[in-house]
Amino acid sequence: MSGLGSKDYSGKRLSPQEADAVIADLKKYLMEVADRWLFKGRFHRDMADGTLPMEAIKVFWQNWYGFVAEINNFHGVAYQRHLPFFKRHPELQKHFANHVADEMIHPTPPGHIQIVLEQGRNFGLTNDEMIEYEMLAECRAFLEYYRGVLYEGTMVEWWASFCVEEAVGHWAKFFGGALRKTYKIPEEKIVYFRMHAQADLEEHEGVMAHAELDWTVLKKILEEGRADTRPGFNLEYCLRMGTAYFAWFFEGVYQSIKKEGLYKV
Ligand SMILES: [Fe+2]
Ligand SMILES: [Fe+2]
Repeated sequence: MSGLGSKDYSGKRLSPQEADAVIADLKKYLMEVADRWLFKGRFHRDMADGTLPMEAIKVFWQNWYGFVAEINNFHGVAYQRHLPFFKRHPELQKHFANHVADEMIHPTPPGHIQIVLEQGRNFGLTNDEMIEYEMLAECRAFLEYYRGVLYEGTMVEWWASFCVEEAVGHWAKFFGGALRKTYKIPEEKIVYFRMHAQADLEEHEGVMAHAELDWTVLKKILEEGRADTRPGFNLEYCLRMGTAYFAWFFEGVYQSIKKEGLYKV
């Protein structure tokens, strides 16, 4: 069923109430597809009941390192590319600057990527096993989708796609919970998940929750009549693609561990 989020808003200025309705529809859509494809996917189902081997979590983490290392820089590139829009909205620019900085300097420079390495070492990986790792195609695809939208898509396609960060926050909660409960990993060894659920979903040390900023920017773009999308794209589609690639990330790891599909020997 396609809702408000799948309409074409190119060149249309929405009232704040109309924009709110579109955002509410998109949020609902995101949580539905994330639940279906991500949380009910077999990687996370097996993780919740403890049948997913630790090896799968390690392979996932090698790929996740590659993803995090680039995605945060893409957001910095968006800061440069979308500057004209943010010049007219200094209050949003302040939060965007905080978002980019948060990923780079929190808790200490170079930011979240340092915690990704620490988390990987807690899983038993060496830094080299993460840094020099050749990402799986399904995992790299998630990154390449964002790279494509950033360089060839429109401004609103980037922000709608980035709203998947809300699902990433919920996922971090889920993943951290399973590591704690099912895999009995002590609290101090799941630092990435604790920090990430908070950064993406809650206001922290004066920094707006990352997902909240994404939705706020998307709303402002709709109000300004700047929500033009390429043929075959709409806002709901951007969320659907971002979430599908996120879900495939886990499916690729799962297939490689179970030696299915391309990984059959
Ligand atoms: Fe992050
Ligand atoms: Fe984030």
